[in-house]
Order: sequence, then structure tokens, then C-alpha cells
Amino acid sequence: MAPRETCIGSVLCLMKALVLSGGAGTRLRPITHTSAKQLVPVANKPVLFYGLEAIRAAGITDVGIIVGDTRPEIEAAVGDGAELGLRVTYIPQSAPLGLAHCVLIAREYLGDDDFVMYLGDNFLVGGITGLVEEFRANRFDALILLTKVPDPTQFGVAELAPDGRVVSLEEKPKDPKSDLALVGVYMFGPAIHDAVRAIRPSGRGELEITDAIQTLIDGGRQVRAHLVGGYWKDTGRLEDMLECNRTVLETIDRSVRGDVDSSSQVLGRVVVEQGAQIVRSTIRGPAIIGRNTRIVDSYVGPFTSIYHACHIEQTEIEHSIVLEETTIRGMSRIEDSLIGKRVEVAPSTAMPRAHRLMLGDHSRVSVAGA
Ligand code: G1P
Repeated sequence: MAPRETCIGSVLCLMKALVLSGGAGTRLRPITHTSAKQLVPVANKPVLFYGLEAIRAAGITDVGIIVGDTRPEIEAAVGDGAELGLRVTYIPQSAPLGLAHCVLIAREYLGDDDFVMYLGDNFLVGGITGLVEEFRANRFDALILLTKVPDPTQFGVAELAPDGRVVSLEEKPKDPKSDLALVGVYMFGPAIHDAVRAIRPSGRGELEITDAIQTLIDGGRQVRAHLVGGYWKDTGRLEDMLECNRTVLETIDRSVRGDVDSSSQVLGRVVVEQGAQIVRSTIRGPAIIGRNTRIVDSYVGPFTSIYHACHIEQTEIEHSIVLEETTIRGMSRIEDSLIGKRVEVAPSTAMPRAHRLMLGDHSRVSVAGA
């Protein structure tokens, strides 16, 4: 089939974005019992915002956001999108029935426009501007992004012909045909709508976008792949969140806008946001301390992001993410941790000396010297 007409410089070629921000986030429980996984902050900015900013940077302003149970929270964070230079429309999904189901329910919103589909928990360094340009210039029916991963069984996997054509796609294969995983950013023309209507739910009960793209390939449509050179992560797990946090903190510039008293040391690339207070403490960058957070008699080590209105006292913490309004006191050392909102962590003073815990469902605690 011949490629569709190119549309460089044509105002008729509107491109939209479909951002997927539903889903249960089971691998990030208990954080996701109460919060959307897309709103967990990386270097004090919700993961979702990195994607929305990349979309805006590529010149796309019309964004449909698919939302599920966490809609109120997503809406409270993103609003109508005006602050990000976007026009946001919320599209409710009754249950997480798969990525292709999202395209199905967005049919009316998308019309026959080309669109980029962006998974709200994916983190891609380097943006999508070049890809959007490549897609617009060639008008493929689909452009998928691939990257080499150590364990392809966790992802959609592509098999390429020697000339780079996409031969087959398989969702979470037991026996992967390559180590090329599908990154959660896809570009589609309107042919995808027939494809998502043609497929049936997979073994995990979802309408898989990989099956829909395979339908395009089988129908002789133009499906191309682009190998992602830069850093990419699906932030589904704690280890991935910490790694993304590390990657972003590596790039920050020093900026101290809060108060640092004369007994404190703020070393290297550290952001101290407005209203934060550092008292008799050492902050060793790269690290970020959120607005109105107080750090007292403590050490905050590299690769740590403390969100806003937290209180950290007589504590050492490193390589961790702490969400808003949390209090941590008297902890000799915390590492490799993700601590939710309004959490209290402190040693027990009452006798007998014991660990006294009130943990949400699916919490994970690993106690030193227990
Ligand atoms: C989804 C897609 C998969 C892709 C992955 C990228 O998986 O189905 O093909 O590789 O996103 O993040 P899920 O996160 O829904 O398991």
C-alpha cells in the first residue's frame, strides 16, 4: 500500500495526542492504592508531566487523557492543561481493558486525525519531536518505538526483517524473537481504528495494541520502527522509579531558593525550593528539597528527592524518593526507598523496645539490624 500524503507545513494535518493515565499500578502498591502511578514525582515533578511537556514541545496541543479510578487526582494535577500550553479532554475508561481499548473509546475524540499515543507512566529522555517530524513527513500508518532490553518477556517484542521492516509483534512472549521491546510511545494514522475493532482480548483479558499493530502489518499497511537511542523506562516498579529519579537528578542545575542556616552545608548540584529550610544539616547533591520542607539535624545524600511540606529530622537518607507532607525522625539510615504521602517514620520510644508498624496493604518493609 502506498504511503499517505505527506503533510509538512499543511494546516490540515492536525495531530493529536492520546495519553493513557488509567491502570491500576499494581507493581507500585501500596503507593497506588491511594494515588495514580503517573503522579509519582521524579525529581519533584510527576512522571506524567514529562510526557505532556514532550508532547507540547513536539508542537501538539490537543491532548485526550484516558482516565480510570484515579481521574479526580489526575484532573486536579493537570486541569484543563492551559498551564502546560495544552487543551486537555478527559476520556473515562470504565476498567483497564487494554491499550487498544483506549484507542477504541477515544474514536470520537480522535476523529481521522493522526495521533501519538503516550503511556503516562513511560519516561523517555530526549523527547518525541524528531519522531513526530519523521511520522508527519512520511505518513506511515504506524510508527513504533523500540529499544533493546535485558528481559524482553516483560514487554511487547518486535521482530524486524534485515531491511528494518516490522515482521511481527508479540505481547510479553515466553520465547521472545528479539530483544527489542516496544516503548510506550506510538504514532498512528486513522487505519488503527479498524484494527482495534478487529482484534479480540488476549490471554490477560486485554485488547492489546501489539495485536492491533500486527493487524495493520498483516493488512499490508505501512508500519515502521524507530530505535530509541536515549534513555527509556517504564516506571512500573520501585527500582525503575529510583533509576529515573537518578537520571533526572544527574541533569539538574544548582539552585538554592530556600533558607540554609550557617551550620548547614549544601554541596554540589542541589535544588532547595522556595520556602524550604535547611537547619544544621548536610545536603550532598544531586538532590532536590521541595518547597516548605524542613530538614533538621540530618544528612540528605545523593539521588534523593524530597517533595513538598515534609519534615526530616535527625535522619540520614540517600537514593530515595519521599512524597509530600511526610515526617521522618530519628532514622539512622534510609536508602533505596519510596515513601508515600503523609507517612510518619520514627523510632519507638515506648517499652518494650519493638517495631510498631501500621502499614498499608502490599507495603514492603526491610528493617536493618532487626
Ligand atoms: C505495555 C504494552 C507493551 C509495552 C509496554 C511499555 O505493557 O502492552 O507492549 O512494551 O507497555 O511500557 P504494560 O505496561 O501494559 O504491561
